[in-house]
Amino acid sequence: MSHRILILPGDGIGPEIVAEAEKVVTALQADFGLDAEVEHARLGGQAVDAEGAPLPESTLARAREADAILLGAVGGPKWEAIDRPLRPERGLLAIRAELGLFANLRPALLFPELAGASALRPEVVAGLDMLIVRELTGGIYFGEPRGLRIREDGVREGFNTLRYGEDEIERIGRAAFTAAQRRNGRLCSVDKANVLESSELWREVMERLAPEYPDVSLSHMYVDNAAMQLVRAPKQFDVIVTGNLFGDILSDCAAMLTGSIGMLPSASLDETGKGLYEPVHGSAPDIAGRDAANPLATILSLAMLLRYSLDEGALADRVEAAVGRVLGQGLRTPDIAGEGEPVVGTTAMGDAVVAALGAV
Ligand code: NAD
Ligand code: IPM
Ligand code: MN
Repeated sequence: MSHRILILPGDGIGPEIVAEAEKVVTALQADFGLDAEVEHARLGGQAVDAEGAPLPESTLARAREADAILLGAVGGPKWEAIDRPLRPERGLLAIRAELGLFANLRPALLFPELAGASALRPEVVAGLDMLIVRELTGGIYFGEPRGLRIREDGVREGFNTLRYGEDEIERIGRAAFTAAQRRNGRLCSVDKANVLESSELWREVMERLAPEYPDVSLSHMYVDNAAMQLVRAPKQFDVIVTGNLFGDILSDCAAMLTGSIGMLPSASLDETGKGLYEPVHGSAPDIAGRDAANPLATILSLAMLLRYSLDEGALADRVEAAVGRVLGQGLRTPDIAGEGEPVVGTTAMGDAVVAALGAV
């Protein structure tokens, strides 16, 4: 049966990096037996411009029908001043919520060839292989009430609400315990239970689940300490589970351990394993249109798509090995190049990955 992959290029560097991942799909179809149909739809600023909404109905309908979705990135200065409901980022949040993509897996894996590209000393990051499991459809991103209002004293205030129900905590907890079982059996739950009631409940639910996963050792850490520990000694972590906002921040931090935010893929999964796959980074307006973006996070997101949603683990391995190979050949986009090292552009990097697929 042919798989249906929906591609949402988005804004800024989105179309550029997605085009490279699509070259990989084409090569897998032509030479490695991938049976997939690829479609495209609009999300984010490009959808606002063409269809008047950041998540058009037609895009959502096609996303529901697809087996898996590959997204570039959304947003940019052009849409920063428009009405909040029309902002590109709202389209991304809406598609996550509409599809029930509550489990966001953000692996941070250091390719050995990039140990020198990290902002940290090579010995601190060498061998790093961790996973952040971020809750993606709840917390302060979605809590009501929210808004902007004028206080009684006439001063404006903005407000948001951080809520987590036991049910939401339990399902992300189970996803994280399961992920830890398949890895090295260590799960660190990150919260702010010394201050927040929602975190107190979070911790309680994680503790309640722990006996069901006797092969996983559960620990807890406050988020401020976790940010510090990620930079001090990141290899202490196997799996981190945390809420939506903390996970957003910690995963950008973890990205830099691997050399560049241009290296970090992600999967956002629903209860059935259907998913949306995207790089952790944004639309990078500062380098858009210059053939300078690193497409590897998107190509690695495609590998996650193949593994988790299409059950094509061997093809996923092939794509990941091809990425390792091009890094081994010394190919570097500017974000991962050391001082004085020669650099290649987005398209040359994508071409090199395609060429390396067969050599694996
Ligand atoms: P960003 O991740 O787009 O960029 C941060 C920095 O990292 C920039 O200097 C950028 O050039 C660099 N960078 C990012 N991806 C890169 C890549 N693949 N290769 C090389 N360098 C890369 O974050 P930002 O600047 O805070 O946000 C820009 C826009 O993207 C905003 O509109 C934001 O809302 C949006 N955004 C979207 C997503 C998403 O679609 N998932 C994620 C984050 C930010
Ligand atoms: C991410 C992004 C998004 C988030 C924004 C663009 C809505 O930063 O995917 O990490 O905060 O979830
Ligand atoms: Mn983010």
